[in-house]
Amino acid sequence: MSALEEYIASFAGETGYLNWAAFGPLSPEVRTSMHEAVEVIGGYDPREHLAVNTNTDRAAELVAELLGVGRSEVVLRPSSTDALQHAFTGLDGAVIAGAGEFPSISLTLQRASAASSGAVSPRWIDPVDGRVTTDAVAEALDDDVTAVAVSHVDYRTGYRADLPALRDLLGPDRLLIVDAVQSFGVVDEDWTAADVIAGHGYKWLRAGRGTGFARFSPRASECIRPVLSGITGIASDGPFTGAVPPPASGARAYSTSVPDHLAAVRLATALDEVRRAGVATIAERVTRNVDEMLAAVERHGIPVGTPQDPVRRAGILSLTPADPEGLGRALSDAGLSVTSRGGAVRVAAHAGTGAETLRMLEDGLTASGNRTFTL
Ligand SMILES: Cc1ncc(COP(=O)(O)O)c(C=O)c1O
Repeated sequence: MSALEEYIASFAGETGYLNWAAFGPLSPEVRTSMHEAVEVIGGYDPREHLAVNTNTDRAAELVAELLGVGRSEVVLRPSSTDALQHAFTGLDGAVIAGAGEFPSISLTLQRASAASSGAVSPRWIDPVDGRVTTDAVAEALDDDVTAVAVSHVDYRTGYRADLPALRDLLGPDRLLIVDAVQSFGVVDEDWTAADVIAGHGYKWLRAGRGTGFARFSPRASECIRPVLSGITGIASDGPFTGAVPPPASGARAYSTSVPDHLAAVRLATALDEVRRAGVATIAERVTRNVDEMLAAVERHGIPVGTPQDPVRRAGILSLTPADPEGLGRALSDAGLSVTSRGGAVRVAAHAGTGAETLRMLEDGLTASGNRTFTL
């Protein structure tokens, strides 16, 4: 079996599952590694515990490898929201962000602004279709802007932001802060365009919760004060007395305490699966599956809020029919797991989404009555 075939085989049982943008059921390898690690740390030999604990480094190394950045730029966090809290609370100036972003960006930025008495302030943009394009950002850009925060792939529309173009627009001094929750591991991207990248492992990586991580580039480390840093974020090993030590160098400054080693085991295992299969290959499969879903949806005359261009989308397809609740019900009755929310039905396919699931989608669309007839 090739590495890709092995990876695809690990999705056995996915039939009907099109909810990867909400949660990715844990891969078999992740489950096994977790069970084994639980047994090890249930024992009384600290040397054996160490073997589990090293997964923290391993997970961070793999994140760094997949991002194409240095290990010292990566830190493990409980969630992506936590990582964004570290980023926003340490900033000054105006931060451009879409008003419709997932609350990890919008709420967190608002709270950071309140806590800083306005030293950092959101500059909301509200493009008609919700897409944070370079044009939408350019309109709001001026000398007060120190950063732009954007989801790489929008959780509602599936729109994939153009990171290199945003980087070019911002120039070398402003920070590009990216929420990579809906893309990391399934989109082949040049991540070095972004200064801060926050992600997690519980959707597309199939690693379960508690598996957040972030990249802080050297420039981000220069600009973002480690306001929320804790006992693992200082340039000192272990407890200290007297003066508080300075922050650690690199991304470790944006950590608070020792990470959850069991979460790190799951994340390291999941990342290794992605590394073996190859992100480019996984991305190709995701695109192909979304192409098929798009074709099916178009055959049934259902409007779509996601770009047609594969470069501007990833695994999410947003369906915007006249009766979204009716469509959501029909798909659910057809045995599919999807998300119906805010006037749209979100379907999301992974690399391992099989032909049977795509056929079920076709059946559900037919049952919904959204059929166009051509004479
Ligand atoms: C785009 C996006 N960002 C962030 C989150 C939340 O991430 P976390 O639970 O790691 O804070 C989600 C969850 O759905 C999301 O879709």
